Amino acid sequence: MSRILVTGGAGYIGGTTVAVLLQQGYEVTVLDDCSTGHADSVPAAATFYQGSILDGEIVRKALEDCDAVIHFAAKSLVGESVEKPDLYRSNNVNGSQVLFDEMDGAGITRIVVSSSAATYGDSREQPILESHKAHPTNPYGETKLAVDNLLVDLAHEENFAAISLRYFNVAGALMLESGWLAERHDPETHLIPNVLRATSEKPLKIFGTDWDTKDGTCIRDYVHVVDLADAHVKALSALETGRHEIINLGSGGGYSVREVVDTASKVVGYEIPAIEVDRRAGDPAVLIASIEKAKTILGWSPSRDLEMMISDAYKSLKD
Ligand code: UFG
Repeated sequence: MSRILVTGGAGYIGGTTVAVLLQQGYEVTVLDDCSTGHADSVPAAATFYQGSILDGEIVRKALEDCDAVIHFAAKSLVGESVEKPDLYRSNNVNGSQVLFDEMDGAGITRIVVSSSAATYGDSREQPILESHKAHPTNPYGETKLAVDNLLVDLAHEENFAAISLRYFNVAGALMLESGWLAERHDPETHLIPNVLRATSEKPLKIFGTDWDTKDGTCIRDYVHVVDLADAHVKALSALETGRHEIINLGSGGGYSVREVVDTASKVVGYEIPAIEVDRRAGDPAVLIASIEKAKTILGWSPSRDLEMMISDAYKSLKD
């Protein structure tokens, strides 16, 4: 039986991955400081340490009896990273360094890491291949790239087996026997939960309608959180000693903000109230993943479409 340490396992994507790992027969230890995650979402079947990846002592304890790590713990809001770059460097880069040092000390060298499409920055080339030059346009993307680079060295120098999974836009929710594992961010900045919470008093703000896209709104590549969690479990089996791979996770296609709003209106059965406002700082016009590498290396492709993401997110918010 294999035991996996999941850092950030009380969060939205980490928590969904913990549930999928348990369903697939893995033993799980969770380490989360609960700054954005929720202790009440950690299943009783997992061993839980509440603490920071910056704390070597608690990381050491959490690593006991583990064979591999899936590392989610990070600050992940682009806007906040522009305001507080030092917080992002300390938590994301220094915290990852503490984790990697403790893994090295404990002789644990297998790791799957949560990276981001934000590492690529603004790209003219769509869909984006993993070989695309990384040019992050905000501190969040810079910290994710710095962590990926640490892993390149660890694979070469310490024989780590590492995969960085670069997510595009994640949405949806997982249904458990105990109820929905919902996306619970405060503040919520993501499009789909904001679309579903919009009311005529507080309509959705569509950020920018003058982008160089088919309908003037930004295009993003959406992937269901359960498909994403499955990819992490598949990545554990694809780890190779002495290698670091970067793999995109998305759907390979894109939807504009207006298309998301229209699909959501269809799903919920009423027109989502929306107003048009100025562009949001830091937004690139289009982000679409090439997912050929995920198909080849992980044997993964997503099976849940945008309608299902919105419908699951809707049910989880009403639960
Ligand atoms: N948007 C709106 N109104 C809102 C929220 C978002 O119009 O209320 C628009 C944004 O301007 C953007 C699109 O919807 O064009 C998607 O925005 P999100 O905030 O949902 O997601 P982002 O694309 O900004 O960022 C997400 C993750 C990042 C990650 C990035 C990589 O939050 O961590 O995807 O693709 F880096």
